[in-house]
Amino acid sequence: MDLVRSGMALGLGSGATAGAAVREIGRRLAEGRLSDISGVPTSNATRDLALEVGVPLTDLSANSRLDIAIDGADEVSPAGDLIKGYGGALLREKIVALNSRRLVIVVDQTKLVARLGERSAVPVEVVPFGWSTHLDFLRALGATPALRSRHGEAAPYETDDGHYIIDARFAGGIADPRSLAEALVGRAGIVETGLFLGMAPEIVVGRGRS
Ligand code: A5P
Repeated sequence: MDLVRSGMALGLGSGATAGAAVREIGRRLAEGRLSDISGVPTSNATRDLALEVGVPLTDLSANSRLDIAIDGADEVSPAGDLIKGYGGALLREKIVALNSRRLVIVVDQTKLVARLGERSAVPVEVVPFGWSTHLDFLRALGATPALRSRHGEAAPYETDDGHYIIDARFAGGIADPRSLAEALVGRAGIVETGLFLGMAPEIVVGRGRS
């Protein structure tokens, strides 16, 4: 949080960890320890949280270059590559990350992996039209794919942008994340993936209090 200074335009990530950061920014604004902050939320949930805790919002049209994006991750490799999107906000998170001078990723130790994909599935965001055609494609790439459903319901989960997510699990992890990402985003109907590669994030690892 101490990276955040008055006058900054921030990318506000999604998920529990990023939510804690948004709450703390709101607290510091209310206490007068920060001023003149604006944030671009990466999901409708984060937008609602920011409004609730008093963090002023902006968008990428008004602020095309953000000072810092603060976000969580599902996996972090030793090289700083990430899997994100368990919360479903990967598309907006990636757009915001790509348009931020600094990307700060906050995780706990459980998110640190030797090889991407060893714990988490790779979220693959697809347009609803023809979504099932991607299943065999993903299998051919070595994945076990599953359409994400809404919690406790049979209906597909829908992202804030109206897309579906296919979670692609790779037994033992992903041998070559770069080739996989290229193969995925080159296919019509696949919008984005949760592979955040080569973005040089600053990783903050929370180790808890003992
Ligand atoms: C949201 O779409 C994700 O990319 C989150 O950043 C990621 O799932 C980490 O979330 P938690 O902080 O809730 O673990």
